[in-house]
Amino acid sequence: MLFPDSRPRRLRQSEILRSMVRETRLHVDNLVLPLFAVPGKGVENPIQSLPGHAQLSCDNIRKKAKEARDLGIPAVILFGVPDKKDPLGTEAYKKDGIVQQAVKAVRDAVPDMMVITDVCLCQFTDHGHCGIVEKGRVDNDATLDLLARIAVSHAKAGAHMVAPSDMMDGRVAEIRDGLDQEGYTDVPIMSYAVKYASAYYGPFREAANNKPGFGDRRTYQMDPANSREAMREATMDVEEGADILMVKPALAYLDVITRLKDEMDLPIAAYSVSGEYAMIRAAAERGWIDGDAVMMETLTAIRRAGADIILTYFAMDAARRLRG
Ligand code: PBG
Ligand code: ZN
Repeated sequence: MLFPDSRPRRLRQSEILRSMVRETRLHVDNLVLPLFAVPGKGVENPIQSLPGHAQLSCDNIRKKAKEARDLGIPAVILFGVPDKKDPLGTEAYKKDGIVQQAVKAVRDAVPDMMVITDVCLCQFTDHGHCGIVEKGRVDNDATLDLLARIAVSHAKAGAHMVAPSDMMDGRVAEIRDGLDQEGYTDVPIMSYAVKYASAYYGPFREAANNKPGFGDRRTYQMDPANSREAMREATMDVEEGADILMVKPALAYLDVITRLKDEMDLPIAAYSVSGEYAMIRAAAERGWIDGDAVMMETLTAIRRAGADIILTYFAMDAARRLRG
C-alpha cells in the first residue's frame, strides 16, 4: 500500500501507541553484570578505562552483587585476577582460588543471584594466553583437560553456570564430560561459541591483567571478517552440549547475533564488551552524546538483533534506568 493510503506515522503519534506496537523490549532479566575479583580485603581498584567499575576483593564483591540483585539484575559473571601466575595457570583450578572464593561470597551473601563464571586460563598464565603454550604455540589438546578442571572447580565452589571463553576446539565436550562425571549434570554451559579476535577488548585487558605476553589471540579467536565460520563454531558447540551460545563482541557483530538466532534453536547471549562500554562513556563524558540514551538504544539494538541475554558493563545503569 502506498501513500496516502498507508501512513506509517499514524502509529508513532503518541508514546502509548508507540509502546503498544514496540517490537523489542529490554528487561532487567536480560542483563548480566561482569565483576572482577581480586585477593585481599577492602580492595576497590578503579579500572581507568571502565569508569564505574573496579577490581573488588570478595567482601566488596558481596556488596556489589547485593546491590545488583536489589536492582533486579538476575546474574553476575565473575572474572578472577590472581596475584600469582604460572605457565599452567594453576591458580585457576585451585580449591580456594580467587574465582572460587568470589563464587562462595556471592552464593553466601545473595542466595537468589545466579552465579556464572568465566572459564579461561589467560588471567592465570604468566604468558597471558588462553591455553597451554608449547614451543611458542597455544596447544589446543593439552589445554582441554585444564579447562574441564577449572569448570569443575567452579561448580564445586557453587557456580550455577560456567562460560568457557578460551576458543579451544573441543572444549565444550570436555567440560560437559568433566562436569557430568563429578555429578554436575545440572550446571549449564554458556559457550563463548563465537568469539572474535577483537580490538574492543582493550579495557578488559587492563581490568583482568590478561594481555598476551607474546603474539596475539588470532590463532584461536575468530577473524572479524567471517560469519559463515561462526555457524560452524556454533554448530560444533551445540553438538558438544552447549546450553546457551554467546556472540562476542556485540555491537560490531549484530549480523552474527541475528544469524545465530535464526539458524540455531538455543538461547543466544551477546557480550557487549569493555571497548563498547568505554567508547560510549568516553563520548558521553565529553558531552558529545547523551550517554544514557545511547546506552538504552544500544542495548535495545542488541536485543533486536536477537540476543536473549546481554552481558554488559551498563547492567547497573540500565537496571536503574528501567526502574524509572
Ligand atoms: C578472556 C576474556 C576476554 C574477555 C572476556 N574473557 C578478552 C580477551 O580475549 O582478552 C573480554 C571481555 C571484554 O572486553 O569486556 N578469555
Ligand atoms: Zn582467555
